Amino acid sequence: MIPDKSAIAQAVQTAHADHANDSGGENASYIPYLASVDPSLFGVCVVTADGEAFEAGDAGFEFALESISKVFSMTLAMQSVGLPDFHDKVGADPTGEPFNSVIAVALHGDKPVSPLVNAGAMSTVSLIPADSPDERWKKILDMQSAFAGREIRISDAVNDSEQSTNFHNRAIAWLLYSGGTMYSDPMEACEVYTRQCSTLVTTRDLATMGATVAARGRNPVTGKQVFDASLVPPILAEMTMEGLYTASGDWAYKVGLPAKSGVGGGVLAIMPGTLAIAAFSPPLDPVGNSVRAQHAVAQVASALNLNIYNSTDFAQ
Ligand code: DON
Repeated sequence: MIPDKSAIAQAVQTAHADHANDSGGENASYIPYLASVDPSLFGVCVVTADGEAFEAGDAGFEFALESISKVFSMTLAMQSVGLPDFHDKVGADPTGEPFNSVIAVALHGDKPVSPLVNAGAMSTVSLIPADSPDERWKKILDMQSAFAGREIRISDAVNDSEQSTNFHNRAIAWLLYSGGTMYSDPMEACEVYTRQCSTLVTTRDLATMGATVAARGRNPVTGKQVFDASLVPPILAEMTMEGLYTASGDWAYKVGLPAKSGVGGGVLAIMPGTLAIAAFSPPLDPVGNSVRAQHAVAQVASALNLNIYNSTDFAQ
């Protein structure tokens, strides 16, 4: 059930005001572009499953989608190859290691374990059927645009910055290839994965993308069915298990909403059937999750009494 709209508006404004001065965290610096983004930027937005938006602060600022892109490519791959095959090839467990861990791949027999870490995301990209990297990239970009309800574009500045420094991901891609869990040319998969991380979204876009999952695969702003509703539970399960990396369990315990972060500073959380909460601010904690965005999303969820483990719908 969608909460009272005035309560949503107030929760968004209050969360923004309460956390605008939060200190702590640092911009990601291993991608040079991200280090240069103004760390004081801070936006919060809720989009409901019936398509209404409520925002505060810098919710219209465009930032790099980064790892949140993994959710949309995962959806595309699940849809393209089918859930059993996707699950078997990529997995659905937490790795217990950082998002770009080589050790996690080695520990699990060169299997990626989760589509929401870098290894699994590259393996996911390689599974999307296409005759060329450009065709694969177009499918991914079209998927991001369908989720957002507007044409999403790549930032050449972000992409150049990432492509010229992504040696670590290239090593992971070769490791997967040697283990038989990379299904296209590994360097092409790494290149396309890096492009998908380099698109620009606003906090409002991010909330709309999440609301598309909350609304069972139908973008509530455009009215278009973006993906099959049967994919919603596995998407949310993947987000619960690994969406915030090694902080995923603590987040599930304290907040109780499937979520995904990116090193660009975005955090997206989803209450199925109800709404999505997005926030953006560049400074990250050591795990790689935005400090302010996590605080703001958690506060909105708590103010609106949203927690998938505490659903009261059955009693109504
Ligand atoms: O591959 C990378 O390292 C980046 N393009 C994305 C990583 C990321 O966003 C992790 N999230 N918190």
